[in-house]
Amino acid sequence: MAKSFDVVVIGGGPGGYIAAIRAAQLGLRAACIDEWKSADGGPALGGTCTNVGCIPSKALLQSSENYEHAAHGFAEHGIQVKGLGLDLAQMLARKDKVVRQNNEGILYLFRKNKVAFFHGRGSFAGGAAGGWRIRVTGKDGEELSAGHVVVATGSNPRPLPGAPFDNQRILDNAGALAMPEVPKRLGVIGAGVIGLEMGSVWRRLGAQVTILEMLESFLPAADETVAREAWRIFTKEQGLDIVLGAAIARVAANGRGVSIEYSAGGGGERKLECDRLIVSIGRVPNTEGLEAGTVGLKLDQRGFIEVDGHCRTSLPNVWAIGDVVRGPMLAHKAEEEGVAVAQMIAGQSGHVDLDTIPWVIYTAPEIAWVGKTEQQLKAGGAQYRSGQFPFMANGRARALGDTRGFVKFLADAATDRLLGVHIIGPMASEMIAEAVVAMEFRAAAEDIALICHAHPSLSEAMKEAALAVAKRSLNF
Ligand code: FAD
Ligand code: NAI
Repeated sequence: MAKSFDVVVIGGGPGGYIAAIRAAQLGLRAACIDEWKSADGGPALGGTCTNVGCIPSKALLQSSENYEHAAHGFAEHGIQVKGLGLDLAQMLARKDKVVRQNNEGILYLFRKNKVAFFHGRGSFAGGAAGGWRIRVTGKDGEELSAGHVVVATGSNPRPLPGAPFDNQRILDNAGALAMPEVPKRLGVIGAGVIGLEMGSVWRRLGAQVTILEMLESFLPAADETVAREAWRIFTKEQGLDIVLGAAIARVAANGRGVSIEYSAGGGGERKLECDRLIVSIGRVPNTEGLEAGTVGLKLDQRGFIEVDGHCRTSLPNVWAIGDVVRGPMLAHKAEEEGVAVAQMIAGQSGHVDLDTIPWVIYTAPEIAWVGKTEQQLKAGGAQYRSGQFPFMANGRARALGDTRGFVKFLADAATDRLLGVHIIGPMASEMIAEAVVAMEFRAAAEDIALICHAHPSLSEAMKEAALAVAKRSLNF
């Protein structure tokens, strides 16, 4: 007889594993099916995020930043480094160890919360009384019956037409995280989040990096002031060669390298020769192998599973969350949806406000924001005031030796309610949390200005930017 569960989650990335844990915490009989395999063929829970996304990229960003500091930053502090060397194999092994620790951590959490785990592919086998039949193929092959199904099957890298990934010369995100040697010349297509983060890693380790971006504008999703500052730092100070308005004509790879023919800026055809090429031009939803069609699960025109504001799909008791549905493709967005859906299945309330999801780009300096950009406010005709404070005027940033960037607040002109907060600077990823709390609580800029912030800390720049909205900064 089929094993029966209240909730079966298909996909064990940050959306799926969190949904399964929350469902179990709420007293539901929960199962999670995930097909990701580690190098030895065993389970590797955590999805894209843990295996080839957030976690390994941040491990390499940290290692490469340490290397760059040792090479160029320590001397200013009076620390001399002699005989500095790079052991890339060790750097990659450390990254793999961090990934494994996270994989094992999720398996432990499943045991702790009594989530049943099935290693294999999950697909719809048809309806059942009061729910669905789900087939598991793989090592744990069997059929489950589910009251509710949560689809959390994530996304895959989008290939460039005419340049299929081989992960030898033309690399997706997995290949970009595992190059066996530092390429002399690295090409990147797409100056989005992956292009900038992975471009930074390999530049710090010694590669000469050229990024070809289709759009004429740089980081259009970020506030324009932040994007301008980032452009200046990445191109002028750090030497990333970013070509905007690039139209790729042809990509040819052979055993030795990759040649890319493209045009840009109205000029004739140009050629980029590189040893390896990362293609990071966005990701596509993954519904492969789910047998969505056999049960009539509706997809939208772009292949995302169609959901309403509460992650309900076109089928009764079938929910979908994370990268496979609309909204930003971010791990924390997937997690929040996982919690909300588990709670709704248990009869509680659950809601995710897509307007207060923070964005972070883990370059150096980091970029982080929440809420509206100034260009969005202008386009919407909003009346707003802005306040900006540079890290140059922050004591902690000076002590750290990293005074690049600023904090910018945008607040409603009439009510002072916060509309957006934008940071480019050290530890922006951590500082943005204060802005998210403030926005969730519908705070005014003055609320932040009235709060005591520890001295000396980078967070004082948040208070000062809030003060700047009322044109009363104290330290600038
Ligand atoms: P996924 O993490 O993709 O997980 C889906 C899981 O489902 C996978 O394990 C897959 O094997 C499994 N699966 C799919 N189909 C089936 C099936 N039929 N049966 C069984 N299992 C199946 N986001 C951030 O917020 N911060 C970051 O710093 C960040 N860095 C990133 C860096 C890189 C290089 C990349 C590529 C992405 C990064 N992201 C980051 C995005 C983040 O990884 C995704 O938004 C997140 O993983 C989405 O979670 P998910 O649960 O929806 O899907
Ligand atoms: P992206 O959407 O961030 O950037 C893709 C870039 O490629 C865009 O600038 C786009 O204009 C450009 N592009 C598209 N087609 C092109 C073409 N044919 N030629 C040249 N340029 C082209 O996507 P990316 O970097 O692949 O990352 C995928 C997703 O993963 C991100 O959207 C993000 O959600 C997530 N991610 C999040 C991170 C974080 O939170 N720090 C880190 C890395 C990824």
